Amino acid sequence: MEIISDIGTMEKWRDKGEKVAFVPTMGGLHQGHLSLIDLARESADRVVVSIFVNPMQFGENEDFADYPRTLDGDLKLLEKCQVDCVFVPDAEMIYPDNVVFTRAGLEEKRYLFETLCGKTRPHFFYGVLQVVRRLFEIVRPDVAVFGQKDYQQLQIIKQFTEGVEIIEGAIVREESGLAMSTRNQYLSMGERLIAANLYKILCQLQQGELGIKSVTKQLQSYFELDYLVMLDANTLKQITDNTSKIAILCVVFLGSTRLIDNIIFTK
Ligand code: PAJ
Repeated sequence: MEIISDIGTMEKWRDKGEKVAFVPTMGGLHQGHLSLIDLARESADRVVVSIFVNPMQFGENEDFADYPRTLDGDLKLLEKCQVDCVFVPDAEMIYPDNVVFTRAGLEEKRYLFETLCGKTRPHFFYGVLQVVRRLFEIVRPDVAVFGQKDYQQLQIIKQFTEGVEIIEGAIVREESGLAMSTRNQYLSMGERLIAANLYKILCQLQQGELGIKSVTKQLQSYFELDYLVMLDANTLKQITDNTSKIAILCVVFLGSTRLIDNIIFTK
């Protein structure tokens, strides 16, 4: 496994040809990330994983400084998964002075960036798209793999990417049902037990056992609710007669830890 931290070497590695699949991450790797690597390996000859905690997608009061950085452990996991290359750039390389990012071309779809998670984190999806585009520019993958766990992120990347095939990976969960996340490291043992209720309650909504009002109440008895919605999974707008796929999307806080989860199902 090659560990590359500069752009020139990364570009040379890429120039060796063959079909390349790419899995961008911010590290703090868990089974969810590893499942994406499995999909990447199935769909290309060589697999690149990037580890870069992207400052542009964190707001001022968010956890950029505290975000888990577990590089040694991550590299061991990646080696075991037979990843061919790990790209570990630093911020100056990704954002040199002469790189200009613009929101041009995004205005028309502003809604997608500013709804749901974008309401409380207005900078977030612009920061994600910036870094993903920059990484794509350097790695030039044929295929890139993203998780459905971050459903709005996935929709934005799908809509604003050209020339790279985007593959989706299903949500990997703990035995308790809790969606795996790097931020789960912030949870105490007691909080993990409480956190397991999130998915259980969302399943009741999906199965029609409870309506959205009672589910909202239930969630509020365990968590501070950011949002819970049931929307058309393709447009992230209201469900209509034309809706074929439904998305239950939810973000809650448990203490200061943000938990995100969703269920996507056909109507
Ligand atoms: P990160 O949170 O590290 O996630 C990297 C990828 O792993 C994303 O595509 C995410 O959706 C996926 N993932 C996370 N938890 C998962 C789970 N339990 N099951 C399946 N997939 C899961 O998302 C980011 O980083 C960043 O925003 C990034 C795209 C790298 C841009 O900085």
